[in-house]
This record gives sequence, C-alpha cells and structure tokens, in this order.
Amino acid sequence: MIKKTAKISFLKRLRYAPWFSQLVIVRRCNLSCSYCNEFDQTSSPVDLSVLKARLDKLKVLGTYAINLTGGEPTLHPDLPELIRYCRHELKFFKTTMISNGFLLKEELIHQLNEAGLQDMQISIDGVEPNRSTVKVLKSLEQKLVSLKQHAKFNVVVSAVVGSCPPEESFRVIQRAKELGFKPRVLLIHDHSGQVQLSEEQLKVFYQIKKMIPKSFPEFTDYRETMIAEGKAPFKCRGGSRYLYVDENGLVSWCSQTRQVFAKDLMDYQYEDLRREFYSYKSCQDQCTLGCVRAASSVDGWRKQELPQLNEELANPNN
Ligand SMILES: C[S@@+](CC[C@H](N)C(=O)[O-])C[C@H]1O[C@@H](n2cnc3c(N)ncnc32)[C@H](O)[C@@H]1O
Repeated sequence: MIKKTAKISFLKRLRYAPWFSQLVIVRRCNLSCSYCNEFDQTSSPVDLSVLKARLDKLKVLGTYAINLTGGEPTLHPDLPELIRYCRHELKFFKTTMISNGFLLKEELIHQLNEAGLQDMQISIDGVEPNRSTVKVLKSLEQKLVSLKQHAKFNVVVSAVVGSCPPEESFRVIQRAKELGFKPRVLLIHDHSGQVQLSEEQLKVFYQIKKMIPKSFPEFTDYRETMIAEGKAPFKCRGGSRYLYVDENGLVSWCSQTRQVFAKDLMDYQYEDLRREFYSYKSCQDQCTLGCVRAASSVDGWRKQELPQLNEELANPNN
C-alpha cells in the first residue's frame, strides 16, 4: 500500500529536499550509443496518469527543479502535456528535459514553447558519426538551426568527452556558442559512473574547460582533482538532494546505482530523504555524474553520517 506523504515543512525541505529530480518517462531510445546503459529498444512509454502521479509525489517531496529524461523523452507522445503539467500545475521552479534531438520537429518545438519548457539539454558528442555515437553535428546541425529559430526555451548543448575524436569536442562547443546556446561537457563514465579517459582526452578536457563559462554550476574543480589524483571526494546526497526515478518508479541515487539502491517513489518519505542525505556511497570519490555533484555541492559543509543516537535525542528535528 502507498503511504501518503504529509506536506514537508519548509525547514525540513531546506535541509533534505531534492534540488534536482530526474524522471525517466520512457526507457526506449531511438539510438543506441555504445557508451550509454540508460536505454532499451523495446519498452513502451510510461502512462501519462502514472507519470503525473510520480510528478505529484516529487513535488510533495519538495523537488525544486524537474528534468524529464529517458531513454529518449521525445518518444513519449504526451511530452508537451507533461511539460505543461510540471510548469503550470505543479509549478516546479525549473522544468527541463534532455534529448538527443533526432525527433525534434518544428511543430514539437512550438508545442514545447507553449507548454512552458524552460531548458532543453541537447546531447551532441562530436562532428562525424562513429561506432560509438551518431549524436553529432553532421546529423544534428539542422535541428540546432531550427531550435535557434523557434525555441523560446534555453538550449544547452552537451558533449561527452571520450565518445568522439577529442578535437571534435572543440567544434561542438564552438558551434554551440555561435548559435548563442550554452555549451556543457560531460566526461565519459563507465557503467558504475566512474571516470574513463585517456591522456589525450584529458588534454582536450583541460582546453575545453577554458572555453566554457565559469558560471556553469557543476563546473567546479572536481574534475581536475579527479584527473590529477584519481579521485575527487565529495559528499554525495543522491537519494536526497538529487533523485533519479526510473521507468518503474524506483528512486536510486543516480542512473548508475539502480542495482545498489532502489525504493519505490510512491513509498518514499521524508525519512528516506533524510537517511540518504547522510548515507555514504562507496562510488562517490570517483563519480563523474555532474548532476549529482551539482545537486550535492550546496551541502558540502554538512556531515555525511546519520547523527548519533545521543545527538538525535537532543535534537530530534535534525
Ligand atoms: C541517458 S541520455 C538520455 C537523454 C537522451 N536520449 C540524450 O541522448 O540526451 C542523458 C545524457 O547522458 C549522457 N550519457 C549516457 N551515458 C554516458 C556515459 N557513459 N558517460 C557520460 N555521459 C553519458 C548522454 O550523452 C546524454 O547527454
């Protein structure tokens, strides 16, 4: 039976609620990038009513910014309605989505404008297709131009360093800037979220870093530290400040830890947010998942172990 979640007080939300929740609305993808394990090629879109119930619950848990992801979200027939629901009914502070852009047509861009989408991240890895990825400028240039002409939302162009010949990443960043879009880079990770880069790719990363606006929230020094020292410790708040909710409605710390921690979103309570805020994750030192790091960064100064029993008795509201 689903437990009802009481409205969480402002103070408790301030302490433990998700800054950023990602919801998988369809696990199927139209592409099959070899570095990615976040898709299948057969599943159906999750029902609109089920997704709305999950969004309601994410709102009750205190989610500040919502991101619709996949798989490939543009394969969901109700994507505009979901965006509208997030923006105008639930009124998340930020309503965003990620796409590989292949299925973006002018009509869909207009529908997303009307629905109130605020940010779209479009993933472009390089210039020419290769065995790893076809999410490249050669295939997507027209989609970028169409976004430039019609989109009223912000567009972030995101390249994965490590999925294409390194020099191609420069061209992606350059093209994003020419079009007035915000460039972003992700470091390729293995299937447990750990960094995987060659010497050459690292050099490219250092050069690219100089081309990216410093204001990007996750673009802190952690990647340099990780590259130099093999790890960049942080206090991961996955399951609390950041929630990844898969197509089955299970909450995990992130997309790469679904086998390690999973709990039904509809049963997720304030106590779960609080416990996961403090839980130590053994993968955190080498984690390259920018969204988890960004959502965790505000609370870096706070402890990462559950307050001891004595402390709990003294401060039951901690
Ligand atoms: C799983 S995709 C879902 C949305 C959409 N299909 C897309 O391609 O943008 C979300 C993002 O994760 C990135 N990603 C997937 N696997 C990755 C990996 N091993 N290392 C780094 N980024 C990865 C993708 O490139 C994409 O930017």
